[in-house]
Amino acid sequence: MHTLVFAILGIAAVFFGLKLAYVICTAVVLPATKGALYVSTSRVRILAFLEAVPMESGQLLVDIGCGDGRVLRQVGRKYGVRTVGYELNLLAYIKAKVLCFGRKNIQIKLRNFWTADLSEADVIFCYLFPDVMKDLAAKLKADLKPGAVVVSCNFDLPGFMPERTLRPGNSLHNDPIYVYRF
Ligand SMILES: C[S@@+](CC[C@H](N)C(=O)[O-])C[C@H]1O[C@@H](n2cnc3c(N)ncnc32)[C@H](O)[C@@H]1O
Repeated sequence: MHTLVFAILGIAAVFFGLKLAYVICTAVVLPATKGALYVSTSRVRILAFLEAVPMESGQLLVDIGCGDGRVLRQVGRKYGVRTVGYELNLLAYIKAKVLCFGRKNIQIKLRNFWTADLSEADVIFCYLFPDVMKDLAAKLKADLKPGAVVVSCNFDLPGFMPERTLRPGNSLHNDPIYVYRF
């Protein structure tokens, strides 16, 4: 009986610790992420954008705010291309490093993407927050090479006309995914 109680308390403590770590890591980077919390894109939505944006070997996809790196892993699996992820949230970064361990095509950087040069990217993936989209549009316009594709989950890039708007799956995954060609 005692063992069971200790086991339940132990599991509860681990969950509480993880939640606390999430809250602290999120709060610490909030001034830089400006509201873009560590929330993951569903597999259905990743597969839908990958179907719509084919990539060729030698190309580079950059996820600006890569969370646990799931987009990078799916892209690698489907197209075998090189991927880079920027992440500021320490918890998400550690999870991404662990889950992407041993995958040569994936590079995860604990770094603010606003100070990164994105000019080599063929495809940019982002799932950020409305407050940053206007500044992001200006940065991408300045950085990206002609023909580069930008995939933005949920929030559009002000001043740009999407080439396609995807609405994958059922109502759960139905938020728009905007696809732009610069
Ligand atoms: C909504 S999550 C998306 C995660 C992942 N791209 C996905 O789709 O599953 C946004 C992530 O962007 C990160 N982020 C926001 N602003 C950032 C910045 N300036 N530099 C690096 N990462 C940033 C946040 O920490 C968060 O983990």
